[in-house]
Amino acid sequence: MSSPIEAIFATIRRGGAKRLPEAPDGLLRHGLVAAAHARAVEASPALIAAALMHDIGHLLDLDDADGFDDDRDVEHAMLGAGWLALWLPDSVTRPIALHVDAKRYLAGKDPAFTDTLTPMSRASLALQGGAHSATQAAAFEREAFFADALRVREWDDAPDLPDARIGSPEDYRTLIEVLIEDDKRSTPDRQQLACRG
Ligand SMILES: [Fe+2]
Ligand SMILES: [Fe+2]
Repeated sequence: MSSPIEAIFATIRRGGAKRLPEAPDGLLRHGLVAAAHARAVEASPALIAAALMHDIGHLLDLDDADGFDDDRDVEHAMLGAGWLALWLPDSVTRPIALHVDAKRYLAGKDPAFTDTLTPMSRASLALQGGAHSATQAAAFEREAFFADALRVREWDDAPDLPDARIGSPEDYRTLIEVLIEDDKRSTPDRQQLACRG
């Protein structure tokens, strides 16, 4: 079995070949752009990692190569977060898990937000359950990583950047390795289980 960091990087790199309507230049560039925005405001390492990997749930396999699989679109946030949680802390995985709900929250709070979305993103919002009701929004605000989820969402929707600002996944290798090692020290049992699994 490859190491966690190699498994993660192999999955991130698959994004170079996978395009979605919201990521027309591929999911690899989409993640790198989000991470570059996070880095530009000196976000925490955990949030930079979350920005880079927020859509990794789309890349866990390529069976849905049509690029717009209804089920995967709804579930990719939880799938990706659940997989990364084998090795990474909640401060990385919870904002990833919540980034779709963050779009629903913003659409509920401000109807004008929906107008800023691309037609396909509006279509996926409907598949994802539509704008939050007031009750759903109040519950979302009680999530421990509510504010972080909104920040990842902001970088997810942020504009493309010049190539020189984007860099490569390797720029984030050490950052992710440190997060994995810190998590191993704080929750050794969980990572041992992941290795055996
Ligand atoms: Fe996403
Ligand atoms: Fe995204």
